[in-house]
Amino acid sequence: MLLMQRLGRELGIAGEVAMEQQMACGLGMCFCCVRSFQTADGIESRRVCIEGPVFKLDEALSW
Ligand code: FES
Repeated sequence: MLLMQRLGRELGIAGEVAMEQQMACGLGMCFCCVRSFQTADGIESRRVCIEGPVFKLDEALSW
């Protein structure tokens, strides 16, 4: 993912990433699938099961 983010920035190509995450409920209630994303307003937490699983590549943060 980091390589694709770097290539996307260098070549001016936007991309998307489909994330895998452990999911207990899959309905947005338990928050066990939360990942962090870098947005214009700072770091934001999003639930992969409800708000994803596809996200903007340039916003995704690695572990
Ligand atoms: S799996 Fe429960 S909130 Fe995503």
